[in-house]
Formats: sequence, C-alpha cells, structure tokens
Amino acid sequence: MRIEELAKEIKKGRVVALTGAGISSNAGLPTFRGKNGLWTYIDPEKFTMEFFRKNPEEWWSIAKDLFLPFFNARPTRAHYALAELENKGFLEAIITQNIDGLHQMAGSKNVIEIHGNVNKLKCILCNEYYPLKDYIEEIKKGGLPRCPRCGSILKTGAVLFGEQIPRNEYLLSIYYSSKCNLMLVIGTSLEVEPAATLPRYARENGAKIIYINKDVSEIVGKEMEYLQGDSDEILEEIVKAIK
Ligand code: APR
Repeated sequence: MRIEELAKEIKKGRVVALTGAGISSNAGLPTFRGKNGLWTYIDPEKFTMEFFRKNPEEWWSIAKDLFLPFFNARPTRAHYALAELENKGFLEAIITQNIDGLHQMAGSKNVIEIHGNVNKLKCILCNEYYPLKDYIEEIKKGGLPRCPRCGSILKTGAVLFGEQIPRNEYLLSIYYSSKCNLMLVIGTSLEVEPAATLPRYARENGAKIIYINKDVSEIVGKEMEYLQGDSDEILEEIVKAIK
C-alpha cells in the first residue's frame, strides 16, 4: 500500500499501533532476534521467572548491565510520529511489547504495555510496584532490591518468560485489536504470544493490517500488507502525508 493511500485509510479513524523492539532500535536499544539481537548473546533461559526465583543475585547481576542503556534512551522519530498521530486524533491506542517507556516519553497517552516496563520494580510477594531509579545504585553495587513493605526480593517490572502478562493490559490489547479498522504493526517479528495473535483479532473485525518492518519478512502473508523500511522514515512520511 502506498503512503498516500495509507494516510487516507488512517484518516477514516479507528487505528491502533502494535509495536516491538524495532521501533526503539534507532534509540540504541537492542532488538531481541536477528543480527546482534539480545538473544544472540544472552541466554533467554536466564530471563524466565523460574531462573529469577532460583538465582535472583545472578539474575540482577546480568540485568543491571542490560537495563542501564534504557536510562539514556530517548524516543525515536517514529515514537514522536505516533504521538503526533494520537494528538491529531488519528490513533486510538498503542499496544507495545516494549518495556522502555519511550512511547510515553514521546507524549503518547494511551499506551498499553503488555510486557510491563523496565522503569519499575515489582515485589514478588505483595505485587507492589516501586520506581527502579530508587534502587539503581544498590543494584549497580550488586545488591538485591527488597520490598520496603514485606522485605521480599523485587523483580523487574518487565514481564519475564513464564510470567503472566498483566491481565488488564492483556484485555485492553484484545479490546483495541478487535475494534480497530486499521492496525499498524511496527518493528516486531511477531514471534511471541499474545502479541502475535493480536493482528488476527483485528483481521476478524475486517481491519487492514500494515506490517512495517525494515527486513524482508516471510510472515507477511495474504492477511497483511507489507511496508518495508525503517520505522522512523515510514512513520514520518505517514505524518507528512496526513497533514
Ligand atoms: N524499523 C523497522 N523495523 C525494524 C527496525 C527499524 N528501525 N529495526 C529492527 N526492525 C525489525 C526487525 O526486522 C524485527 O523484525 O523489528 C523486529 C524486531 O523483532 P524482535 O527483535 O523479535 O523484537 P520483538 O518482536 O519486539 O520481540 C517480541 O520477544 O523476547 C521477547 O519480550 C521480548 O518483547 C519482546 C518480544
């Protein structure tokens, strides 16, 4: 689909974006798969809930180096473009698999974080959340962050493999996917559930699915239209075409 046509579709309304690590790659944050993806040099088995419970000290010693780049990351042009579309009333919601908080930093309001957020910590017992920044010095020194209420170990606010995704966000992601007319799937390999199924909910509602990705992707079948390119370039062209 050409950008001009896509702009016309977006103007009809009921648009939802589903984003993945690719939209943050220009912010210097790693993607997970493909060349230099995080899982090519970190064992994903160490990012399971089971590994965390058995080895909290080791987990935090690995995670602290991974999370530090998130503190310096700033939104990409694509993040700002989506915030502008929402601001103009052309985007109802962003469902993101990303844990970096860059959509909100760019000004997006309705952001559904189905994999949680790295900027907060969660108590594994009382489920209270606390800001990561309050614990980062202790974590850098190799300490174990503990809940001020019950003393249990705090885990990252990002969802680990084998951990339930937040129920409210899960239900919201299905709600928005099922009622949209157009879904922009941006910078994701769609390898992980439940994100991978959300385009199907949209499709079942008769929505058009536009798969925006810089690499050629075999997953783009007949049910999606493929816009190959960098998310920054493509989203800025869309915003220009909408004006
Ligand atoms: N513009 C567009 N697409 C890009 C860009 C870019 N600048 N950079 C990378 N991509 C694409 C890659 O081609 C790839 O298809 O983004 C996709 C990133 O895929 P993954 O690394 O698999 O990331 P994601 O799909 O978000 O992973 C989903 O898997 O490991 C879990 O919890 C983790 O949230 C993550 C989930």
